Amino acid sequence: MTGAAVTYRAGAAHHATAHRARLAHNVATAIVCAVAVLVSQLAQASPAQDYMLHCMGCHGTEAQGVPGKIPPLANALSRFMRTAEGRNYVLRVPGAANSALSDSQLAAVLNWLAVKFDTSAAASNPAPFTSEEVSRLRHRPLAAVLAARSAVVRGLAATGPAPPAQY
Ligand code: HEC
Repeated sequence: MTGAAVTYRAGAAHHATAHRARLAHNVATAIVCAVAVLVSQLAQASPAQDYMLHCMGCHGTEAQGVPGKIPPLANALSRFMRTAEGRNYVLRVPGAANSALSDSQLAAVLNWLAVKFDTSAAASNPAPFTSEEVSRLRHRPLAAVLAARSAVVRGLAATGPAPPAQY
């Protein structure tokens, strides 16, 4: 065996070891990244998950509500979102305002609902809620929820698409 061949063999072995080490490092990095993404997803659940955990028990799988008891959010929420009074009501209604969701999570759930289950959203063209808007309004409890709702719905019906007066 010539000296050159020995050098070559040693070089190849060294190269293979370095390659394996790099591969192991890349795999480890990928696993760390995947775990980090998973943890952040668990910490910040999606609006769909937040709806399921905090709202769906009352408002239903399709946000359809329960006749006589719980108002539908489907084909209704985006109509409330058309006016300042409607937005004010939505952000102060007990089920939403008193939920365990943070301001930004509540904004995200409402914005998601208004698109997901609301075929009238295009007609209402609602501006999404911001977490600032949520934090400004949610801490002022409504004195009389149903009276406030009636007044808001009457005002909406006078100016365009409105949620149902009765549910
Ligand atoms: C314990 C049952 C319950 C839960 C949980 C609940 N709601 Fe409600 N929600 C109601 C009822 C009942 C009303 C009607 C107003 C009232 O009587 O408080 C309502 C009204 C609303 C309204 C206004 C709609 C209208 O037509 O008056 C919105 C918007 C809303 N809820 C969103 C939510 C969101 C978002 C969540 C989850 C974060 C949620 N609610 C959780 C029972 C609930």
